[in-house]
Amino acid sequence: MTTAAPEVLVEAEGAVGVVVINRPQALNALSIAVMDAVAEALRGFDRDPAIRCMVLAGLPRAFAAGADIGEMKAIEGAKAAGAALARHLGHWDEIGRMKKPVIAAVSGFALGGGCELAMACDMIVASETAVFGQPEVLIGVMAGAGGTQRLTKAVGKALSMEMNLTGRRLTAREALAHGLVNRVVPVESYLGEAKKLAALIAAQPPLAVQAAKAAVRAAVDRGLDKGLVDERNAFYGLFDTADQKEGMTAFAEKRKPVWSGK
Ligand code: CAA
Repeated sequence: MTTAAPEVLVEAEGAVGVVVINRPQALNALSIAVMDAVAEALRGFDRDPAIRCMVLAGLPRAFAAGADIGEMKAIEGAKAAGAALARHLGHWDEIGRMKKPVIAAVSGFALGGGCELAMACDMIVASETAVFGQPEVLIGVMAGAGGTQRLTKAVGKALSMEMNLTGRRLTAREALAHGLVNRVVPVESYLGEAKKLAALIAAQPPLAVQAAKAAVRAAVDRGLDKGLVDERNAFYGLFDTADQKEGMTAFAEKRKPVWSGK
């Protein structure tokens, strides 16, 4: 594998472009640097005529445990949140708009921005150990990269509400039952199965694949852009609250947060 950045591995395997997030010490938390490298790699593959399908994978223990809380903790207020995070969160939107199909290969934690990243992809191959959730409420904020929008479209209002309001996580089997993932495979083979699916897609006529992808996207993404803007503004707004400070500080200090409702 060649390395685009130390924490993101990039490799073309035939007509399949493979990007692996590799930041095990932070459970693949999606820092600004990691997401810059992920987006750059996928953008490159999306433009490369030799590539027909992409796989975005994490590591066996974590696809990604969310946006990097350490980078967000010190942000003071909604305006600063917008200034600090707009470009970063824009990467999730960009991945959702790629021309070529992107398959997420998910094992272990896919939480917060990690779940949102998997959902921004077109399909999800999950390992038996995969865990999906939007636990932002547990650290005083809410989903900010599509979690209230894409999850609701995928699993429906009832379950999305529960996940977004309580941080309830789904096992891989539950995610399969609720239509969030395409298949569940043993942990040893999640990356291989995702690559196999990508190779199958890459063997189809590329213009037809891209047109079909765009059409399916149009069916599910109608109204999505406005929803994402509203979600993002609400997410930034929570950086004006004491509970955001408390939630993220408590996470860093490995203690339970005490909510003031302010
Ligand atoms: N950001 C930064 N660091 C993180 C992280 C994150 N999202 N998730 C885990 N880490 C770090 C931990 O701080 C810890 O680092 P140290 O060893 O230096 O202390 C390391 O990864 C291992 O984590 P834990 O010790 O917590 O591992 P665990 O097995 O006990 O728990 C976990 C695993 C349940 C995933 C727990 O780490 C966790 O709850 N992580 C945060 C999940 C979360 O809240 N994600 C949402 C982030 S906000 C967001 O994503 C906003 C958005 O919508 C864009």
